[in-house]
Amino acid sequence: MTSAIVSVSKESRLFDPPAEFSVRAKIGSREVYEGMYRRSIEDPDGFWGEVAAELYWFDPPKTVRQWDPPKARWFEGGTTNLAYNCLDRHVTAGAGEKRALVFEGEPGDIRTFTYAELLRETCRTANALRRLGVSAGDRVVIYMGMVPEAAIAMLACARIGAIHSVIFGGFAADAVRDRVNDAGAKLIITQDGAWRRGKVVPLKEQVDRALTSCPSVEHTIVLRRTHNEIVMQPGRDHEWSVVVDRASDQCDAVPVTSEHPLFILYTSGTTGKPKGVLHTTGGYMVGTYVTTKYVFDLRDDDIYWCTADVGWVTGHSYIVYGPLANRATALMYEGAPNYPEPDRFWDVIARHKVTVFYTAPTAIRAFIRWGDAHPRRHDMSSLRLLGSVGEPINPEAWMWYRDVIGGGRCPIVDTWWQTETGAIMMAPLPGAIATKPGSCTLPFFGVVPKIVRHDGSDAEPNEGGYLVIEQPWPSMLRTVWGDDERFRQTYFSRFPGRYFTGDGARRDNDGYFWVMGRVDDVVNVAGHRLGTAEIESVLVAHPNVAEAAVVGRPDELKGQALVAFVTLKADVNATDELREQLADHVAAEIGKFARPDAIRFADALPKTRSGKIMRRLLGELASGQAPKGDTTTLEDISVLAALRDDDE
Ligand code: PRX
Repeated sequence: MTSAIVSVSKESRLFDPPAEFSVRAKIGSREVYEGMYRRSIEDPDGFWGEVAAELYWFDPPKTVRQWDPPKARWFEGGTTNLAYNCLDRHVTAGAGEKRALVFEGEPGDIRTFTYAELLRETCRTANALRRLGVSAGDRVVIYMGMVPEAAIAMLACARIGAIHSVIFGGFAADAVRDRVNDAGAKLIITQDGAWRRGKVVPLKEQVDRALTSCPSVEHTIVLRRTHNEIVMQPGRDHEWSVVVDRASDQCDAVPVTSEHPLFILYTSGTTGKPKGVLHTTGGYMVGTYVTTKYVFDLRDDDIYWCTADVGWVTGHSYIVYGPLANRATALMYEGAPNYPEPDRFWDVIARHKVTVFYTAPTAIRAFIRWGDAHPRRHDMSSLRLLGSVGEPINPEAWMWYRDVIGGGRCPIVDTWWQTETGAIMMAPLPGAIATKPGSCTLPFFGVVPKIVRHDGSDAEPNEGGYLVIEQPWPSMLRTVWGDDERFRQTYFSRFPGRYFTGDGARRDNDGYFWVMGRVDDVVNVAGHRLGTAEIESVLVAHPNVAEAAVVGRPDELKGQALVAFVTLKADVNATDELREQLADHVAAEIGKFARPDAIRFADALPKTRSGKIMRRLLGELASGQAPKGDTTTLEDISVLAALRDDDE
């Protein structure tokens, strides 16, 4: 991490917010944004205290923020409940009949839940959890596909103060087992299978495999969705249709303290062990509520659709908690974007009259590849706002999104944030801030981002550097589950007192931020953030592998693709068959989305004298560049030459 970060972007297009958008927007001008931003920095207690007061507290907070880096505490003295704020608050206010969730399954089935119905289902599920012995502070793993019951399960945990940990349904048994064990989960909520491109993803089967070595798990609840055959273990496994559907639909929300843990979400870091990012109740609630309100500029009649999976933080914050806290109507779609045809998303938008659409650059690049004819076939005039999240969006994809999907009339909010930040940190407020293709523009209220050099000094405008955040914000992670030291080390040791994002970025002459991507050993494949170390440790666990290094290389479609450099044990032959086997092995252990795109065999890996693999060199090789920069620390220069000769 010592090399300078060089930015090559020359983008200079600027798009003002459309006048007709600004007129109706919650924040309709740059001046209003600036006034509110200034206040949020100069008087954070006043600003955040007022936002918090828009939500329901059983006991109001006594203080707003306490900052003893790296530990932040928000809204102390307050007691609240996030499920209450997402459901009961609206029902009590007379909005029980408003649609909360509109679900469309991949096979085409549609189910709608009003706020009153979602409240009842949440209560039933909460009662079922209680009957199976779950109480406040217990961990519950939710390993499901994109079905409304996943959101209901999350809300049910929040309602009784249990801590949920959602595991993305694309993960396989080993990844599930590690996360369940790290969290010490007592119960798993899953389903027989999930629909994906017309096929069944057998979730329960993976749970069964994982549970052979998860001693903390006492029970599972299994929803029937795909009706594939599964094995139910009596006493341990319970049918959703029995324990939930037959439970009472009355269950009071438990008042919890503001800093009561809400959820753990595992994310990749630079070591093989996933990090359990811990979010707590009050700050996360306030952060997701207020960002949804202003960034998506929600109106009462919006049909809001975020295409993320609930297994990632975007699904937590911007399918479930943020939209519901704002009394929005959120759409949830179960399946693949190209099933049965590549126009499925546009068909959904046209039929449901979606007004706000939030997706990822990797999806946008796939749409471009599939061709304009698909979106052009559908009437998407209901759309008024578009969003992007998960990785840097290249200006061409941004322009296509604006023209072809947005019909040239919808502002685009490019939202930069992370699992750790809980909520959006930088984004243009759509009625107030002019946009530039590829820039997430300016910070949200209360956020103080800085670009610094490796010695911590401020970078000049347009000088690439490390992105850090200077002040605490309500929805920031509180720790790494069970590992305060790792929390401090990972986020607050590189630049003491400041939160280090792990991203490289620059700020242009107008003060706009351009995030360039990760500077650590984390790659972003199709919007999935993967720690290369986790993949390496799976490769090394294979009996034929001696050593492995995984790096990312730029990929037109996925943003980054994974390339694994592997040295084999003596006497093992490097064959194409073995290459396939190793790729399959990674897919089976971690999940298909982590399958390396290329595996390159090497006699040795380039290392420093202290034995550290020089990934930077491998990254350059994998990208087809000649290794440049400093090779003086390389222990054996011939290794590099051999790898280059081996170039595909
Ligand atoms: O590198 C940044 C990239 O995704 C990382 C966070 O990944 P994750 O925790 O999985 O959360 C994804 C959804 C919030 C960041 O460190 N990233 C996310 N959004 C953007 C982005 N990079 C550039 N522009 C964005 N809008």
